[in-house]
Amino acid sequence: MNILPVLKDRIGFGADYNPEQWSPEVWREDVRLMREAGVSVVTLGIFSWASVEPAPGSYDFGWLDEVMDLLGEAGIAVSLATGTASPPAWLSRLHPGTLPVNRDGVRLSPGSRQHYCPSSPVYREAAAGLAQRMGERYGTHPALALWHVGNEYGCHVQECYCDVSADDFRRWLRERHGDLDGLNAAWSTTFWSQRVTDWAEVLPPRTAPTLRNPAQELDYRRFSSDALLACYRAERSVLRELTPDVPVTTNIMGMWEPVADYASWAPDFDLVALDLYPEPKDPAAAVDAAFFHDQMRSLGGGRPYLMMETATSAISYRPPNRPKRPGLNRLWSHQAVARGADAVMYFQWRASLGGAEKFHSAVVSHGGPHDRIFREAAALGAELGGLDGVAGTRVPAEVAVVFDHANWWALELDARPAELRVPERVRAHYAPLWHENVTVDVVPPAADLSSYKLVIVPNLYLCDDAAAEGLRRYVEDGGHLLMSFFSGIADACDRIRPGGHPGAFRDLLGLRVEEFWPLSDGERLGLSTGGGADLWADHIVPEGAAVLAAYTDGPLAGLPAVTRHAYGRGSATYLGTRPGEHVMRDLVRDPLRLAGVEPVLPGLPAGVEAVRRGGHVFLLNHNDHPVRAAGAELAPLDVAVVALGEAE
Ligand code: GLA
Ligand code: GLA
Repeated sequence: MNILPVLKDRIGFGADYNPEQWSPEVWREDVRLMREAGVSVVTLGIFSWASVEPAPGSYDFGWLDEVMDLLGEAGIAVSLATGTASPPAWLSRLHPGTLPVNRDGVRLSPGSRQHYCPSSPVYREAAAGLAQRMGERYGTHPALALWHVGNEYGCHVQECYCDVSADDFRRWLRERHGDLDGLNAAWSTTFWSQRVTDWAEVLPPRTAPTLRNPAQELDYRRFSSDALLACYRAERSVLRELTPDVPVTTNIMGMWEPVADYASWAPDFDLVALDLYPEPKDPAAAVDAAFFHDQMRSLGGGRPYLMMETATSAISYRPPNRPKRPGLNRLWSHQAVARGADAVMYFQWRASLGGAEKFHSAVVSHGGPHDRIFREAAALGAELGGLDGVAGTRVPAEVAVVFDHANWWALELDARPAELRVPERVRAHYAPLWHENVTVDVVPPAADLSSYKLVIVPNLYLCDDAAAEGLRRYVEDGGHLLMSFFSGIADACDRIRPGGHPGAFRDLLGLRVEEFWPLSDGERLGLSTGGGADLWADHIVPEGAAVLAAYTDGPLAGLPAVTRHAYGRGSATYLGTRPGEHVMRDLVRDPLRLAGVEPVLPGLPAGVEAVRRGGHVFLLNHNDHPVRAAGAELAPLDVAVVALGEAE
């Protein structure tokens, strides 16, 4: 059964539908073409606020009634947006305070989208009011299958620095730290005379003469994530009340931007919806995409999710705006289904003639439904709609990669020993697993890890006590761990854990890091196991750990670079540096073997991705040449969905 029950046991196929840009004649043509393309679900009215509520408190539902009816009669399920992502011009005219303010104190103008302060009570009330009207109007409409609240929260405005936000931040800080003494301690305000004695002195981290207080920065990120979540919750609770049986979600972004702490949002999603725009020009795009799919599936506790947006072809905001070559959309759409998506949907159904995104690809292009894009989409709609026994099934994983937003925010703040970038760090650990065809879950540090054979922890600089204890217990109970340098250094307030690095994990890893030796650009160190490393070198003093590799040159020549500690019934392997790509693959293979983790299928040609989902194995050929894999002949960019047991 599909995670969206109305789709029954079929994989959903569809698009964002923005009918307010088109005439009623075009709507009829659209519905006809949707049926031709095998569309079973659309997400409707995402930017319709100004069309639905043209003046405050005055509503025009006629056009939307008609579109809902047309879709319903055609048997197309509707994920109905509340339409609150782009407030109408009148809102900011009447209430300029709803507009967000950036770090420099500049109030942003309307004329784009997402121009609201997440803490603004006026915005929240107006948005919840619209959600209420939508719920009352369409709550019992037979086409309604899902509520789509807002759109990509924080995509453009992640934080607002206005006075209303400052007040909301103070309220949030009282909840987190209690009184001013608690706040002063959490923010280490004795440094640089930053002690506050009155709540009025507590401010957002606005533009300042030099480095801002890192704990204040970190709390502002957390607060801003919570403020966006509060916007979502305000609308969700209205809809819950009116339509308790209709699931509610918002679409979140699979991209390398630390927008919001999605792991803390996940409990508020009835199902997870992903927007994903891999770059057709990037040869590693499929690896990143796989990571985001795994992350979305994991956010939903392993349940299927919807890929609510992707591009049939070109992505308008990334010049040069290159199309996807024939077959690539099919391949990447199947990748989503392989990794747990129960629907594949595109932004958008019909390419706009005007507006900022008119050069973004769609299912129906400017020239009409006669081109390659539409033909490919229609063939794919039929193919996905015909996949039997896949919707609703699960993707098993024996390995977890630990991923944490607070750590991301903290690691990329200023004045760290080296510029570590979380996307690069996560990729470096994830790519070897992808190449090995080992499926992973992506979990927060405090997750229950007991079901995993191997847990991989890329550079977890910031780690609270509960997470540190969870990881320790996991290994003690027989788990295997692979952890990279600069982990367990700071507590949740970005305060150093004293008494020797890495404070949170010294016992577990059986070592002490005497000093960090970040390397200059282009500086490389040799490793005794062959190959080299760069970026960073820990000066490791073993305290029980065995040395697996040592530096062969440079400031730490002869000292350990990679270690392993037998701890409890498990093991903890530690990488004190950044090995080159091939060394990294070997280094990941080793604990995989130790933990007894098998690939989905052994011996596949390079560039072939295999994922098991339910009773099927998906084989995805990312190569531009044909391959033979597990008994199947795969053309370039081809896909095979094989019943388990039939794959050799
Ligand atoms: C300057 C300042 C110090 C300290 C150091 C190191 O010398 O006077 O307070 O900030 O730089 O950055
Ligand atoms: C995002 C938005 C869409 C559209 C696409 C394409 O995913 O949700 O409205 O802007 O990007 O750029």
